[in-house]
Amino acid sequence: MIEREEFNAEETPVSTMQASGLEQDFELSLRPKSLAEFVGQEGLKENLQIFIDAAKKREEPIEHVLLYGNPGLGKTTLAHIIANEMGAQIRVTSGPALERVGDLAAIISNLKKGDILFIDEIHRINKTIEEVLYPAMEDYALDIIVGKGPTARTLRINLEHFTIIGATTRLSLLSSPLRDRFGMTHHLNFYEQEDLAKIITRSAKLLGVPVATEAVDLLSTRSRSTPRIANRLLRRVRDFAEVRADGSITEPVCQRALDMLHVDHEGLDDVDRRILEIIIDKFGGGPVGLSTIAAATGEEIQTIEEIHEPFLLQLGFLTRTPRGRMATEHAYAHLGKECKIEM
Ligand SMILES: Nc1ncnc2c1ncn2[C@@H]1O[C@H](COP(=O)(O)OP(=O)(O)OP(=O)(O)O)[C@@H](O)[C@H]1O
Ligand SMILES: [Mg+2]
Repeated sequence: MIEREEFNAEETPVSTMQASGLEQDFELSLRPKSLAEFVGQEGLKENLQIFIDAAKKREEPIEHVLLYGNPGLGKTTLAHIIANEMGAQIRVTSGPALERVGDLAAIISNLKKGDILFIDEIHRINKTIEEVLYPAMEDYALDIIVGKGPTARTLRINLEHFTIIGATTRLSLLSSPLRDRFGMTHHLNFYEQEDLAKIITRSAKLLGVPVATEAVDLLSTRSRSTPRIANRLLRRVRDFAEVRADGSITEPVCQRALDMLHVDHEGLDDVDRRILEIIIDKFGGGPVGLSTIAAATGEEIQTIEEIHEPFLLQLGFLTRTPRGRMATEHAYAHLGKECKIEM
């Protein structure tokens, strides 16, 4: 008999955002494959459906699409859905993976008509590559410089009519010439609680785990308005239910699991609370700069900026001022601290 590993959330409360290889497989298994399966983001879905149907009707590849929004809201999922709906091949790369012009040239010169190239983290693409992308996106041509010095000449290679889908968490870091070359730019919003509940119910069904409606409601309010977190919490709670209960996720089981994971009733995890505590206790509530917060919490600036801050801003625990971040009255109240400053 194989002994089950003891559930150890108590000893090591893991951040709800860290992804391991196993979690990536898990995410892949829950990824919706069609627009109809993709929950929420109704406006965006409707626009995309029209965009896709029109292209199909004209038997043309779709225009380049740029998707932006916080981590875990469904950009990669949507890129694959667009490819599926178009019946197109998708090639996947990312800004940092494209180091040399040759890397990009090798990929795009092999694309066939209608193929999709998904460039994740497109804001991290380097300038030289970006300049090669301009004519590629606009005129479906690659301008390559052959030779050096006085004998150097430009060679133009014609490309098939392909589509780029770019994804970014940081639209402001994208240069405007690059942004302008996308026919369609879409923002993914944080999800409503009802949508998260639908996502959790769908995932539980796919995983074959029984879950009570009250537990779904509980999970959906603690998922930081983000599908990825909703699925991750579900997985951790499922582990707990299997080890400490009979496998089904009832409301009390769910509540106990969330307590052990240190996810509080607003969905804040240890890192979120530490950020607020440091701003309040060490810096009198702020304003304090992002790099100072990062140094004091031992977290990376990027992690704070892309994962924790947007959520804390959205919940109204934090405000951004020109001089730095400030904790709000709401943050003081949530942490049970007395707010001595006039807000
Ligand atoms: N609208 C949705 N309906 C159902 N599941 C969703 C939806 N959006 C996202 N998911 C789930 O959340 C997971 C994370 O989504 P995805 O990887 O597409 O996010 P992302 O925006 O690309 O994040 P990142 O910026 O970190 O790359 C997916 O595996 C998918 O299962
Ligand atoms: Mg992604």
